[in-house]
Amino acid sequence: MHAPLWREVLDHYFKDKQDLKFLELGTGNGLCANFLLDNYSCTVDTVDIEETRIVKEQENQYEVSTIKNLQPFIEAGRCTFNLMNTKQFLTANQDKQYDFIYIDASHDKDWVLYDAVTSFALLKTEGLLIFDDYGWGDCGIGINAFLECFDKHIQVIHKGWQVFIHKASDLV
Ligand SMILES: C[S@@+](CC[C@H](N)C(=O)[O-])C[C@H]1O[C@@H](n2cnc3c(N)ncnc32)[C@H](O)[C@@H]1O
Repeated sequence: MHAPLWREVLDHYFKDKQDLKFLELGTGNGLCANFLLDNYSCTVDTVDIEETRIVKEQENQYEVSTIKNLQPFIEAGRCTFNLMNTKQFLTANQDKQYDFIYIDASHDKDWVLYDAVTSFALLKTEGLLIFDDYGWGDCGIGINAFLECFDKHIQVIHKGWQVFIHKASDLV
């Protein structure tokens, strides 16, 4: 659904660049990570509290494994799947720096704000940050708090169901 806009914006930032470092908070079934890994010369660290989920479709139900969906990329050393919550991952990986961060984990306003502030420190200056689900429940309250407090350091590129942010500067 978001692929056309993602292609336009991510191509602007990342087309023809090599060795990009991407972070996804909230892996789900791994669809977005697959899209990123298929289309860009990147590695992806992705984080989720669940690895396996039961999907129900009409009469049928089946098990979906995130690791299986990402397996070729994990084996190629281009993807890590981190089974933990975002706070645990962000606390343990403060030394990392990413070109792109996608925030799509908990949609509770406190978690969204925590994920935004903490991962912003891991985003390179001139990097790209995308939030999903701006209109979902209280998710937008967390996103708005971040936008208001970090206004000196960011440019909002797009605000719709997803919010696209350019990191202009770091806290100093
Ligand atoms: C909408 S799905 C992610 C979809 C994925 N980004 C994609 O586009 O393909 C949200 C995921 O966030 C995970 N999640 C929720 N709270 C979390 C938390 N605090 N830390 C890590 N993952 C969390 C859920 O288990 C769920 O799989």
